[in-house]
Amino acid sequence: MSSFALAYERFGEPGEVLQKVPIQPERTLKNSQVLVKYIASPINPADINTIQGVYPLKPASFPAIGGNEGVAEVLRIGPNVKSIQVGDKVIPAPAATGTWTTHRVLTEKDFIVLDKNVDPLFAAQITVNPGTAYRMLQDFVKLQEGDSVIQNGGNSAVGVYAIQLAKLWNIKTINVIRDRPDVDELRQYLKSLGADYVLTEEEIRKKEVMDEILSKVGKPKLALNCVGGQCATDCVRHLADGGTMVTYGGMSKKPVVLPTGSFIFKDHRFVGFWMTRWSKANQTSPKRIKMLSELSQLNSEKKLIIPKTIQVKLDDYKEVFETIQKGFSNSKYVFTFE
Ligand SMILES: NC(=O)c1ccc[n+]([C@@H]2O[C@H](COP(=O)([O-])OP(=O)(O)OC[C@H]3O[C@@H](n4cnc5c(N)ncnc54)[C@H](OP(=O)(O)O)[C@@H]3O)[C@@H](O)[C@H]2O)c1
Repeated sequence: MSSFALAYERFGEPGEVLQKVPIQPERTLKNSQVLVKYIASPINPADINTIQGVYPLKPASFPAIGGNEGVAEVLRIGPNVKSIQVGDKVIPAPAATGTWTTHRVLTEKDFIVLDKNVDPLFAAQITVNPGTAYRMLQDFVKLQEGDSVIQNGGNSAVGVYAIQLAKLWNIKTINVIRDRPDVDELRQYLKSLGADYVLTEEEIRKKEVMDEILSKVGKPKLALNCVGGQCATDCVRHLADGGTMVTYGGMSKKPVVLPTGSFIFKDHRFVGFWMTRWSKANQTSPKRIKMLSELSQLNSEKKLIIPKTIQVKLDDYKEVFETIQKGFSNSKYVFTFE
């Protein structure tokens, strides 16, 4: 069995510090150990930030294997394993176990078993992005059917899941994206997923454009912010009185600057959300299992589809990270293993 992983021994840019290295998973499994073969593992912005050393999640030691989520098939189990069988499809329960690897040995409690029929490309991405969209739409504001939400990073993986879940729950979405040469194609794509409005960062600054939209869907009670900087401030300007902005990312690398009147006159709430913290507190809680099974079910019914996904090989990692760093890719890159 040839086994390889993308590992790093120091923090830095992924293209520079990652190396494809041979690994040797244990041959004889003890007690509750489980040997899995990874099928697919995505590359999320947080994985890149972790390797750069600027993310709160740090590897326990070096060398560390990159990747935080993925789906794997169980190849062998130790003598005391009760809840997992050979052939099961599993995802890692804790964060940062290292998923850019062909094989991994962890213990029984480190895996959650999914339905065998789940689409592997969806399962590989289930723990971070769809869950983040789900929790942010559910946990901060009691949204009623017909309410509206504004979000920036509308074409991010989280944004794409938020659009689809909101549509299923009859909530209107105003989605902000960065301008680009093929902007109309992107608008069409997001609308095909259920987006009500797709606007560029420049367009949400135009009073006449926003007045027209808000007269139809009302002011949003919830804003989801993964960009920060000017775009976050512009989204806040349209938030309903008493509304909440949930910040969950900072893709522009600029701080969130808030109008003073938001606090005093509009009673806006500003909170943050980190899926890693939520998942740690709910590792195998009924709430988490229910969410994962609901999301899988929606995916199997084709009501919740994955963002545009490009499957790549471990061998091509240097070019892949170079492309991702340039932005505007509209796609999620996923390592797939044979
Ligand atoms: N807090 C949490 O628990 C949690 C969970 C999941 C994700 N996140 C965060 O959410 C964000 C999106 O994650 P994802 O996996 O959905 O990302 P993704 O699919 O890789 O998409 C990245 C998004 O960021 C936008 N972007 C990149 N650079 C930008 C810039 N300089 N200014 C404005 N927008 C920019 C991209 O737009 P273009 O197409 O225009 O490049 C795209 O919409 C990341 O910050 C990630 O860390 C947080």
